[in-house]
Amino acid sequence: MEKENTDTSYNTPLSRIIFQRIKKNQDFQEGLPFRDFMEMALYDPTYGYYSNPTSRKIGRDGDFFTSVSVGAVFGTILSYWLEELWGSRFDSGKDFVVVEQGAHDGRLARDILEALESRASPLRRVIDYRVLSPAEGFPEIEGIQVVHSVREARAKQGVFFSNELQDAFPVHQICYEKGQWMERGIFAGEKEGELQWRNLALPPKLREFVEEIEAIHQPDQTPEGYTTEVCPDLRDWVSEISSLFEKGTWLMIDYGHESEDFFSPLRSDGSLQFYQDHKVISDPLSQAGEIDITAHVNLTHLMRWAKEAGLELRDFTDQHHFLTRAGKKWLLELEANAGLDSDFAMLTRQFQTLTHPSIMGQKFKVLEFER
Ligand SMILES: C[S@@+](CC[C@H](N)C(=O)[O-])C[C@H]1O[C@@H](n2cnc3c(N)ncnc32)[C@H](O)[C@@H]1O
Repeated sequence: MEKENTDTSYNTPLSRIIFQRIKKNQDFQEGLPFRDFMEMALYDPTYGYYSNPTSRKIGRDGDFFTSVSVGAVFGTILSYWLEELWGSRFDSGKDFVVVEQGAHDGRLARDILEALESRASPLRRVIDYRVLSPAEGFPEIEGIQVVHSVREARAKQGVFFSNELQDAFPVHQICYEKGQWMERGIFAGEKEGELQWRNLALPPKLREFVEEIEAIHQPDQTPEGYTTEVCPDLRDWVSEISSLFEKGTWLMIDYGHESEDFFSPLRSDGSLQFYQDHKVISDPLSQAGEIDITAHVNLTHLMRWAKEAGLELRDFTDQHHFLTRAGKKWLLELEANAGLDSDFAMLTRQFQTLTHPSIMGQKFKVLEFER
């Protein structure tokens, strides 16, 4: 009996495809920028981690939790926030367009619509809920329209919303070694299918980020091997998404830091993480397509580029403060029904998980822009 080739057996099909692509492409002779590896690993149309929205479970049975997977309370509070905004900022008689991006399997959209329905909110009759998803295979959900491009999602007025979207954008990893800034890349090794880390020359388009980091800490304060991430894709994205509405509100929730903190010399390993079954994976290259890859969002960049795109920052807070404020009405109703509602304990627990500073309340930041 032939022995199994153990050199390649641990590689996923996508890792092997990436290996072949690097080998065959003249442009990648030195190596493939990590950004491109991350893009393929998450979004390859066939094998990417997110290529099929329903095959990846988020929550207890999946690889990680989000505020949406905690339960329906997140969507319920957002439904109150939307209702308030609709009444105060928009013409409440007309259709009200809500565009959600990064909606995964549509659970949040469903939670929001069900919450409006269950309290017979007049917003339910006029809400036009659009999920912006480039991937095919988004499940059909009543009351939700799937659109595949910003152009298709556009409206005169509306609200944009995303939860944990930007942390899934492909990032460049840069590092400081022996007095030089380099870009981290992936190299195809000698053995069939073997992918290895390798430093590449820093491309000119990443220079501006090095200058920004060096304004925070000079090279002599930068630890040897210091590694961080930068995400030029975020600039292109915010510029495009800002064109959704002539008059609108854009709400983005994700984990991240402002530049001073993000590029602090104390964060010397960066924020890139690889997850599977709620565990951090240390050797991700051989498992492309099977693991989640995520990096914290640079909130200074998000705010700077949103401003460049013509959006005005209206609020910048954490999830604790945002949900406590937006959920005021809901909390009062919950309290009033304390003895009557059989779900009281469960709903209270969900609210605590979402807002407690040591759980999700402080880690998640909320940015609200408008035009
Ligand atoms: C970390 S998951 C969060 C899912 C969901 N919002 C939640 O909170 O449970 C990130 C989601 O963003 C999606 N995504 C990433 N880039 C996207 C893009 N450019 N357009 C639409 N969805 C995108 C991924 O497919 C994935 O479903």
